[in-house]
Amino acid sequence: MNAQPTNRRVILSSRPKGVPEADHFTVEDADVPEIGDGEFLIKTEYWSVDPAMRGWANDAPNYLPPVEIGAVMRSFAVGTVVASRHPDYAEGEVVSGMFGWQRYAVSDGGNVDRKVAEDDLPSSLALGVLGLNGVTAYFGLIDGCAPVAGDTVVVSTAAGAVGSAVGQIARIMGCRTVGITGSAEKVSLCTEKLGYDVAINYREEDVNAALKAACPDGINCYFDNTCGPISDAVMTQLAIGARITVCGTVALTDWDPIPVGPRVHRQLMVARARMQGFLILDYKARFPEAIEQLAAWVREGKLARNEHILEGAETAPGAIKMLYEGKNTGKLLVRVD
Ligand SMILES: NC(=O)c1ccc[n+]([C@@H]2O[C@H](COP(=O)([O-])OP(=O)(O)OC[C@H]3O[C@@H](n4cnc5c(N)ncnc54)[C@H](OP(=O)(O)O)[C@@H]3O)[C@@H](O)[C@H]2O)c1
Repeated sequence: MNAQPTNRRVILSSRPKGVPEADHFTVEDADVPEIGDGEFLIKTEYWSVDPAMRGWANDAPNYLPPVEIGAVMRSFAVGTVVASRHPDYAEGEVVSGMFGWQRYAVSDGGNVDRKVAEDDLPSSLALGVLGLNGVTAYFGLIDGCAPVAGDTVVVSTAAGAVGSAVGQIARIMGCRTVGITGSAEKVSLCTEKLGYDVAINYREEDVNAALKAACPDGINCYFDNTCGPISDAVMTQLAIGARITVCGTVALTDWDPIPVGPRVHRQLMVARARMQGFLILDYKARFPEAIEQLAAWVREGKLARNEHILEGAETAPGAIKMLYEGKNTGKLLVRVD
């Protein structure tokens, strides 16, 4: 006799201050939810693990309200519609969206990012290079940094989900790419698989000196995923007219209060540089154009699949911390089975 399916899910059980750790979560089994009129049931296959989940789990000012204690942890996920009473969603369709760390999610369509139409490609890509990370890289680089062929583009978290896509897109656009990352293994990944011209290990090398050697004419574009000492070094070596996209602050240990670092105003003024904050949620209406281009590059072999997949729901509670310790190589995902 087949066992009844259960809804394995990960609950935020206590409030972290800073990076959430495994014991802030509880894994539990609940009944598979029923759907009502206008709803459909998604069986999730992969859950996303994103640095932003630190902010969602903490009770600090942010662009989304904090996840409540006792609630399913908010996350992106991809899965298949297994039952539907909604006119626009049919059984068997693959969807990605904000479904949370749970095996079964009920939706009315409001939390769906998109129907995943690339059935020739793995569905996990819809959470990485064909998902939030890919579109972040695409618009953050193209709109934020406005690179032109021949520019020197520096990327922090160069081997990660967003960074690896930024480096590869910049290369496709004819730029010289310099990646900054945190281990010898990731340096090799950057130069051998992701096509960076130079990769710098910020844990082992003098980043200032390494950047000087790698960027003798200065840095035209900086895709900043870290803030902190890496960005401090980049800011001293800007070329005239440099463009900086501030996409993430993963190196900031505290948000409340935010630590004070070097004052960047003179560096910006002398280089006549532009530094702009970036939030992908502002680009929702333009996701299709980016996904179409990114999927074409994946099919042409120009964008490499760069994923780190953990097995089973029980791995999720410790996964956010892995990002902040640099233990992931590529887009961090949980495969739910
Ligand atoms: N603004 C937006 O709309 C938006 C959207 C998506 C993502 N993001 C941001 O993009 C950045 C990358 O996200 P992701 O999902 O692609 O994660 P990821 O790069 O796959 O994983 C995070 C990486 O951060 C690096 N890291 C951790 N602590 C660090 C530190 N103290 N100093 C320098 N690097 C450190 C680690 O790589 P190393 O081993 O190389 O250090 C780690 O692998 C994050 O800052 C994230 O918040 C922003």
